[in-house]
Amino acid sequence: MKIELSERFRSFKPFLFEELYRKERAERARGKDIISLAVGDPDIPTAPEIVACAVNEVRKGANHRYPNTKGNENLRTEISAWHKRRHGLNFHHNDEVSILIGSKEGIAHLPFVVLNEGDYCLIPDPTYPTYRTGVVLSGGRIHDVPLEEKNGFLPDLGKIPQKIVDRTKLFFLNYPNNPTGAGATLEYYRDLVKWARKNNVIIAQDAAYCEIYFDKPAPSILEVPGARDVAVEFYSSSKTYCMAGWRIGWVVGNSRLVCALNQLKENIDSGPFNAIQNAVALALKHHERLVPPIREKFKARAEKFCKGLTEAGWKFTKPGGSCFIWAKPPVKRSSIDAVYFMLEKASVLTAPGSGFGKYGEGYVRFSLTEPDKKLDETLRRLKSLDWGN
Ligand SMILES: Cc1ncc(COP(=O)(O)O)c(C=O)c1O
Repeated sequence: MKIELSERFRSFKPFLFEELYRKERAERARGKDIISLAVGDPDIPTAPEIVACAVNEVRKGANHRYPNTKGNENLRTEISAWHKRRHGLNFHHNDEVSILIGSKEGIAHLPFVVLNEGDYCLIPDPTYPTYRTGVVLSGGRIHDVPLEEKNGFLPDLGKIPQKIVDRTKLFFLNYPNNPTGAGATLEYYRDLVKWARKNNVIIAQDAAYCEIYFDKPAPSILEVPGARDVAVEFYSSSKTYCMAGWRIGWVVGNSRLVCALNQLKENIDSGPFNAIQNAVALALKHHERLVPPIREKFKARAEKFCKGLTEAGWKFTKPGGSCFIWAKPPVKRSSIDAVYFMLEKASVLTAPGSGFGKYGEGYVRFSLTEPDKKLDETLRRLKSLDWGN
């Protein structure tokens, strides 16, 4: 029998960086000392007290039973308390907070509870690719919204064609932004919420990098009065506490959306291991002590890397947060040519901007999630790289 996969599934292309990783493996096989700054996977270990808490929780028999899909009360209560301290916002832990198996999981599932066949979802370009996943699988349509450097990598709402807006139900955004490192101000969010309310568009703001800010604390869109009528926000423990492998995220905001997403998930998964949820609850409780050293580390890396890149002739806007530098090489090259050139001539692997969307063409993304020594060595290699003309 010939196995026929679904049309929707077939519309997914193989992972974009696969060919790049194949080249990287080939270079390594030739004995090259490759430094990979292609993915954003923090090198900093999870704090020992979080690990110790998890070990203790694993031993408890009660945690060996099924968890509750929306997350255990201990974690949801700590999340509510944290948002109160951090943003001055009250979220009821029962219907305005739901735990996710990493924020990526909730991001991929949200379109299923919002979109009907043919409804539009606005997605930034360049983008974190998972925003597209749920839209494609639920039969929605995608309209790409450019993030241009001249606009601070923020969507120009006035430029989105009204005939698309009229058919749009959902808009994914992400600040501090991957891949550009840009931030959004509360003023921008105010305009966005006003626009969303006027046009009946649901906003899904992805705050995965909200604690990796370099200047002022990144605001929550939900701080805007009335935002809760139209918006949810996704959070992640992956970068905030360097817990990417533990897989915990959460969604807060509009209760109808939070509860609908939870109801869908009740039919798909049974939530993350309670032992891990309790470890994240501890992380949130001690957030103000645990997070500043992580933030400072990424800030110091960003400052040093920006200085080095400037000396190596690269052009970029300094990031306001995240663990990425989004930059153009000293000589005009397509993203993919620049990435292959650096891999072959300097044994440095980076992510091609064009892989994040057409407006990423010409850029390269450096991820600062490798130890300082490797970042220093990267800069040394880039400074001695001759790009020709
Ligand atoms: C913008 C953005 N959102 C969400 C995620 C997913 O994070 P999580 O580990 O919580 O699934 C990532 C991961 O790299 C990301 O870059």
